[in-house]
Amino acid sequence: MGYQSVYDRSMNDPSAFWAEAAELIDWNQPWERVLDDTNPPFYRWFSGARLNTCYNAVDRHVIAGRGDQAAIIHDSPVTDSKTVITYAQLQDQTARFAGALKALGVEKGDRVIIYMPMVPEAVVAMLGCARIGAIHSVVFGGFSSRELATRIDDAKPKVMVAGSCGIEPNRVVHYKPLLDSAITLAEHKPEHCLILQRPQEPGSLVAGRDLSWTEALAEAEPADCVSVAATDPLYILYTSGTTGQPKGVVRDNGGHAVAMAWSMANLYNVQPGEVFWAASDVGWVVGHSYIVYAPLLAGCTTIVYEGKPVGTPDPGAFWRVIQEHKVSVLFTAPTAFRAIKREDPTAEHLKRYDLSGFRTLFLAGERCDPATLNWAEQILGVPVIDHWWQTETGWGIAANCLGIEPLPVKPGSPTRAVPGYDIQVLDDTGEPVQPGDIGRIMIRLPLPPGCLSTLWGNDARFIQSYLSTQPGYYLTGDAGYMDEDGYLFVMSRIDDVINVAGHRLSTGSMEGVLAAHPDVAECAVIGAADQLKGELPLGLVVLKSGVTRASEIIIKELVTLVRDEIGPVAAFKTVVVVERLPKTRSGKILRGTMKSIADGKDYRLPATIDDPTILDEIQTALASIGYARHA
Ligand code: COA
Ligand code: AMP
Repeated sequence: MGYQSVYDRSMNDPSAFWAEAAELIDWNQPWERVLDDTNPPFYRWFSGARLNTCYNAVDRHVIAGRGDQAAIIHDSPVTDSKTVITYAQLQDQTARFAGALKALGVEKGDRVIIYMPMVPEAVVAMLGCARIGAIHSVVFGGFSSRELATRIDDAKPKVMVAGSCGIEPNRVVHYKPLLDSAITLAEHKPEHCLILQRPQEPGSLVAGRDLSWTEALAEAEPADCVSVAATDPLYILYTSGTTGQPKGVVRDNGGHAVAMAWSMANLYNVQPGEVFWAASDVGWVVGHSYIVYAPLLAGCTTIVYEGKPVGTPDPGAFWRVIQEHKVSVLFTAPTAFRAIKREDPTAEHLKRYDLSGFRTLFLAGERCDPATLNWAEQILGVPVIDHWWQTETGWGIAANCLGIEPLPVKPGSPTRAVPGYDIQVLDDTGEPVQPGDIGRIMIRLPLPPGCLSTLWGNDARFIQSYLSTQPGYYLTGDAGYMDEDGYLFVMSRIDDVINVAGHRLSTGSMEGVLAAHPDVAECAVIGAADQLKGELPLGLVVLKSGVTRASEIIIKELVTLVRDEIGPVAAFKTVVVVERLPKTRSGKILRGTMKSIADGKDYRLPATIDDPTILDEIQTALASIGYARHA
């Protein structure tokens, strides 16, 4: 069956479509309803059914004879080590880890926060939670202790699981001290911390609260998989919204397992036993879905890579991993390829490796510029597939579904709607726009299985953030257009979210940090175009009158403040002091106009601007730090 007929089936009879897909999963109890639409705008998939996600990702493969197959390959150029964990070993480790959690009093529905670098134990911890029905929340290691504390207070975990340290090419990241200060900052106090002691920097353990991973697992009684409702939460993953308060995206067990397994075959065209590599981090949604759950649910081998595309040790790092571990499909962010291209524009390093088994490159996480797509295609000689999705959906919304029917690639477009997603481009009044016209990209409800069911503990914010703009539709937060052939072009965000090296960040939360500095009267943070990272945050601050300290010192303090309060991942390094910020007559700061100026783009003078002469001042200030040049 071709793409169009599969897509039409998913739209015309979603229950039949997803019931068929659900055969990829082993259930303890069948569902009463495939699509439960009894409580709109909350839709549930497979209500009444029971399963265990860890059983489906691990145990059943051992039973089916995959026990000796590699489940995880940990490849860590930063520690110069490689480890293979088979499915049988993974079963043993997850059962022991789950047993250790149980011994600490963790029960079904309890939360466990995981703050770990790219080590296989992070995957074991996630699966171990799923095994006993505990809800994990993984926090990316590049976030500061304050961000971690915010998540602790929202998720209220019983137990924290952390590595003692992470290894970045230029430094050791002190996870344990960051964890300790997050617990001090947070109002909620987790009862215990399980610490994976790494030899590069073991952490000091707090007596009575902290336990070492190795000791806890050695003493643990292996725990079996418990049966949970398909609609029970599997995990919470926090993502940036427009405010400083991150949104806790909740993912269920049943719909998620079905969507993950279906996508491996139909979107990525990967078969059980193949090696699938998502070069991301377990702290991001790409890591949750395509380092951990989808490849393991599908019986593939997944790679946990603790390194970078460049500098560990050279721009041939990806090619080495692909050759050495026989990777069939790689999934990463365009930034990784821009980084490789910048250091090795003629792909000399590629000549040292044999990539004959490599089939496809998938890119996502940020807009993929055609130049990067074309370069990757040209050097690799395999299809390069851009696809579009977000933390909230958990898997591709628009993609070229290679397992169904490869469609012609149009550079700049993630191709067409994935079956299950009814994508509509609407204007401000909720009317569909003409093909080629830009509008808000929305998805008609219900969202397919695998997408967020709500925000943790906050149904009202879920409705207000995503479902209230246009009743019956989910607001993606992206703007773009669809062409005559149904190809989608995702152009920009419509909110204050920016995308830095495929990492999603809130300018609002950075502004909150700048505004707290005693010398700052007002501020704005915009995402300025960057050739490597897509966007980089750029701060504009107005100092309080009477401030006499040197601007350079204040700027340094502001940069340090954002790094400490949000984390190095924000890559916040540039601030410029200005006299005034441009605003509308009602006092709204014109961030979009300042972004156009910074990027050297033409812009229309906003009709509601209070004082247009401020824009010339902004132009001059930004030019003084190398921005605002016309392309
Ligand atoms: N723990 C602690 N700090 C971390 C971290 C982690 N897990 N991951 C990144 N950081 C830090 C980095 O050390 C860096 O700090 P610095 O300012 O002291 O140098 C900062 O956060 C920014 O990191 P990063 O975005 O990785 O930038 P980089 O300049 O170190 O590397 C690239 C640039 C392009 C190589 C890198 O961004 C990359 O590999 N991108 C691939 C995209 C990707 O994986 N996206 C994920 C979503 S699919
Ligand atoms: P995240 O939730 O971190 O995965 O970020 C999701 C956001 O990244 C989306 O809402 C888009 O703004 C952007 N994004 C992800 N993939 C793409 C893509 N293929 N093309 C354009 N933008 C993308």
